[in-house]
Amino acid sequence: MEKVLTAHFANERYRRMDTYRQYGGYDALKKAIAMTPEAIIDEVKKANLRGRGGAGFPAGVKWGFLPKDLSRPRVLVINADEGEPGTFKDRVIMTRGPHLLIEGIVISCIALRAHACWVYIRGEFVREARIMDEAVAEAYAAGFLGKNILGSGFDLDVTVHRGAGAYICGEETSLINSLEGKRGWPRLKPPFPASVGAFGLPTIVNNVETIADIPWIVTHGGETFAALGVEKNGGTRLIGVSGAVNRPGVYELSAGVNLKEIIYHHAGGIKDGKALKAVIPGGSSTPVLRPDEIDVSYDIESMAKIGTMAGSGGVIVIPEGTCMVRALSVLMDFYAHESCGQCTPCREGTGWLKKIVGRIEAGKGREGDVELILDLCDNMLGRTICPLADAAAMPAQSFIWKFREEFDRHVGEQKCPYGNRF
Ligand SMILES: Cc1cc2nc3c(=O)[nH]c(=O)nc-3n(C[C@H](O)[C@H](O)[C@H](O)COP(=O)(O)O)c2cc1C
Ligand code: SF4
Repeated sequence: MEKVLTAHFANERYRRMDTYRQYGGYDALKKAIAMTPEAIIDEVKKANLRGRGGAGFPAGVKWGFLPKDLSRPRVLVINADEGEPGTFKDRVIMTRGPHLLIEGIVISCIALRAHACWVYIRGEFVREARIMDEAVAEAYAAGFLGKNILGSGFDLDVTVHRGAGAYICGEETSLINSLEGKRGWPRLKPPFPASVGAFGLPTIVNNVETIADIPWIVTHGGETFAALGVEKNGGTRLIGVSGAVNRPGVYELSAGVNLKEIIYHHAGGIKDGKALKAVIPGGSSTPVLRPDEIDVSYDIESMAKIGTMAGSGGVIVIPEGTCMVRALSVLMDFYAHESCGQCTPCREGTGWLKKIVGRIEAGKGREGDVELILDLCDNMLGRTICPLADAAAMPAQSFIWKFREEFDRHVGEQKCPYGNRF
C-alpha cells in the first residue's frame, strides 16, 4: 500500500535536506503557501487525521479550537516526548525523516497562523535531538524557516527543546509547564491549551507523527489520505511491534489493518513457535487482549468497541509461559514511579497497586487482594487532573478481568505457578 511517511526511510541520506528535496520534499510547502489557512485546515479535516499521540482526537477539529482573535500570538508545540512503554515510532520519524516533521510544522503553522514552534523532545533521545537540530539548521539555511519563508512574507522560528526524561512530561499541559521551565506537573483544564497554553498563549500540542502526515495530505488532498484508512480514521499509521515476535519493528500500515495480521503477517508471528498469550495493543496503558480478541481492525473506533485502544500504536506481544502477574507488576512499578503526586487517587492508588500486585507476585498475596485491586481502580478512574491514574488502572483491571485465574492461583498457592517467569 501507499506509504505516507516511510517510503524513503531505507535511504540513510533521506534525513539530509538535499536528498529529501530530490524526492519532492518541501514541494508541499510551496503548494501550502499558495493556499489560505482555512483551505489547509479543510484538507486536514477531510483527511480524517486522528492525533497519533494516544487519545486520537481529530487534528483538524483541534486546530479549530484556537480563538478567532489574532491579537495574541499563537504557538505550535510538537510532542516528541514518546514516553509510553512499548511505543517507539516518533523517534523513527525524527532519525529517518526529520524534514517530514519540519515541513509539516511549517505548513501547520501557516494554517494556524503561528510564528513560533517548539519541538519538545525526550531527554534520552540524544541522537534524535542532534539529527533534529541539524535538520532545523538546514531548513533555516534553505529559507524554509526564519523570516519571509520562500518570499511569502510568513515568518516562523522552530526551537528544539530537550526534556529531562519524565513520562508525565508527555501529557500536554505538563509538557507546557516543563517547556516554560516549571515543574512538569499537569495543569487543571479548563483553561485548555488552545486558549491558555505555552507562555500563556493560545497553543496547539500535536504528536510528531500527526504533523509529519501533513505534507502528504497537502500534496495529495485530504480525501486521498482518508481513503488509505477507514471511516473516521484516515491514513496510515506507524505501528511499533515489540515483544515475542519474529520481526519486531515499526511498520507503516493502513489505520484499518487487522491486528492479527500485524502480528502474524507483518511481524512474522510468535517467536520460537510459541502460542500467543496476550496482546497489549496500543502502548502500555491500553487494556490487554486475549488471543481470541485480536481478529479486529486496528482503527480507533473498532478498538474502542472491544474495550481497548489503538493508543500510541505500540503493539506488545506476550507469549505463552509469561506470568501475567509479573507482567502487571512491572507495569505498576512504572506508573507508581512516574505519578507526579498531585492527586491523591493517583499518588496513593498507583503506590498501592504496585504494593499489592507486588506482594501477590512474591507469593504473599492475601485473601481479598484481587478485589482490593479492582476497588482501587474504581476509585482512580476519571478522578484525577490528568489521565495517568487511568493509564495505570486500565491495564490493572483488564489483566484481572482477562487472567483472573492466574492472580487467584498466586494467592491460593502462595507462589508463582510459572516460576516467576516474565
Ligand atoms: C501520561 C501521559 C503521557 C503522554 N505522553 C505522550 C507522548 O509521549 N507523546 C505524545 O504525542 N502524546 C502523549 N500524551 C498525549 C498528549 O497529552 C496529547 O494528547 C498529544 O500530544 C496530542 O497530540 P495529537 O493530538 O497529535 O495526538 C500523553 C498523555 C498522558 C496522559
Ligand atoms: S493523575 Fe497522577 S500524574 Fe496526573 S496530575 Fe494527578 S497525580 Fe499527577
